[in-house]
Amino acid sequence: MKLVIGIVRPEKVNDVLHSLYRAKVRGLSMTRVQGHGGELDRVETYRGTTVRMGLAEKVRFEIAVSDEFVDPTIDALCEGGRTGAVGDGKIFVVPLERVVRIRTGESDDSAVTPVGAA
Ligand SMILES: Nc1ncnc2c1ncn2[C@@H]1O[C@H](COP(=O)(O)OP(=O)(O)OP(=O)(O)O)[C@@H](O)[C@H]1O
Ligand SMILES: [Mg+2]
Repeated sequence: MKLVIGIVRPEKVNDVLHSLYRAKVRGLSMTRVQGHGGELDRVETYRGTTVRMGLAEKVRFEIAVSDEFVDPTIDALCEGGRTGAVGDGKIFVVPLERVVRIRTGESDDSAVTPVGAA
């Protein structure tokens, strides 16, 4: 199992959700975050003055998946999140030790697999 963390542009969230749904990925969390990638200083003009914008608004997806879903999840994040311009975001894949579904007490693969799926 892996925790796939995808940081994307807020305006691409709906595209990412559609791509994940098409890839049959079920179960995710999303939070708004601020960050920066390679570019340390983002300079923008605001009301005629040039200001340094420290951090960019992004959305962070956290998706726990069984191993077979790692690549489809990454593909879906890339497909839904890409514009081709700098700042499209990044994906981190982290080993996941344990998952528990609270309602049933199921662990691990049966807990990340949606109810009703084989
Ligand atoms: N090394 C990192 N660790 C943690 N978060 C990161 C890292 N790199 C990027 N992020 C997060 O991803 C967001 C988007 O990063 P961004 O797409 O600008 O990465 P990049 O490496 O600069 O790629 P690009 O050249 O396409 O801009 C950042 O605002 C930050 O929230
Ligand atoms: Mg960048």
